[in-house]
Amino acid sequence: MAALASLVWVLAGCFSAALAQAASPYPPLWEDSPEQLSDYSMEGGKYIIDPWVYTERLGLYRILLKKTATYFAKYGPENEQNLLWGLPLQFGWQYQSGRLADPTGMTNCGNGLNASLCVSVDSWWADVNYFLSVVPFLAAVDSGIIGISPNQITILPPPEDQMMFCYNVSGCQSAHPETMNRWRDFFQYMKLSSSNFDGLLKELWEAHTSSLEYPTNVFVDRYDFYSDKEANFEENWAIAVNYLAAARFPTTQNRTYSFQNALPPRVLVHTDIAPFIPDFTSLQNKVLVQLKLLGDTDRNSGSSSLILWESLMSTKLARALFLKAFEAFLETP
Ligand SMILES: *[C@@H]1O[C@H](CO)[C@@H](O)[C@H](O)[C@H]1NC(C)=O
Ligand SMILES: *[C@@H]1O[C@H](CO)[C@@H](O)[C@H](O)[C@H]1NC(C)=O
Ligand SMILES: *[C@@H]1O[C@H](CO)[C@@H](O)[C@H](O)[C@H]1NC(C)=O
Repeated sequence: MAALASLVWVLAGCFSAALAQAASPYPPLWEDSPEQLSDYSMEGGKYIIDPWVYTERLGLYRILLKKTATYFAKYGPENEQNLLWGLPLQFGWQYQSGRLADPTGMTNCGNGLNASLCVSVDSWWADVNYFLSVVPFLAAVDSGIIGISPNQITILPPPEDQMMFCYNVSGCQSAHPETMNRWRDFFQYMKLSSSNFDGLLKELWEAHTSSLEYPTNVFVDRYDFYSDKEANFEENWAIAVNYLAAARFPTTQNRTYSFQNALPPRVLVHTDIAPFIPDFTSLQNKVLVQLKLLGDTDRNSGSSSLILWESLMSTKLARALFLKAFEAFLETP
């Protein structure tokens, strides 16, 4: 319970930190990424998309955000309320913090003096994100959101471990039926005129957590490429997402952008001991401590702390109070 209470404080802290920040709330290189499918190269009548290049994967999000804008227009101007913003912003943080680079150091993919757009298949973050980018995009194609037929695009495979990913609607549907169905449910619900914001959040988080199930189980071998500190952070982050999902954290643009100030701005190394990491803000240090506490609580309780949290957050009123608490904390310096 202490950890859960701490989580509330941490999240509140994230929002306070947000106030100081007034930069443009977009992922890095957003404007340089494809805005429409015709910005990708074409071969044999198909658009060729290489999700192992940062801007090309980011472009899938940019197109998705644009194609879904109309369904979020009733909640606020400029697509700011589009709940899909959580995904590209998180991916942008991964890029900016060096988490998409090759953690083995065997290649210079994503490393090196020149800013490299390479997304490494050995990156745990990049592999998990694949199921939160390519997979929802294919589900959107299949749901008629993108306006092309599934056989008009080709998703390129990574240089290795190709069997661990899926590349087209039918392939993803047979390998990950539950996840594809959840994303399709989200897009179908979004298109209903009777859809509402809370319902969208529910469908989105169900699809999101479903997307995480396979990669968080399959890519555990990647942990070996990182320091113990980063590997623990990855595990704890994967756990924390379930708690955010239960609270139906509204992943709108500005809110998600602000939230990310609280996340570690570079890959953790063995000597990083939170809350004493000198080049991190005190909030970033605090978040690492709390995430560890939450992760430990979850593991020690055999996930019954998550079940408890889910039941706490099961009513709209509780979730509203939870968010209201954030706003109250916002006003405290
Ligand atoms: C989001 O942030 C941008 C830039 O900081 C700001 O101009 C805009 O008004 C914000 N939108 C909302 C809905 O808060
Ligand atoms: C950086 O890029 C420039 C131009 O693309 C190239 O000439 C240079 O060799 C690169 N440097 C490194 C260290 O990769
Ligand atoms: C879809 O991808 C699978 C591999 O994941 C491949 O075997 C299959 O031929 C592809 N289908 C189409 C229609 O391209």
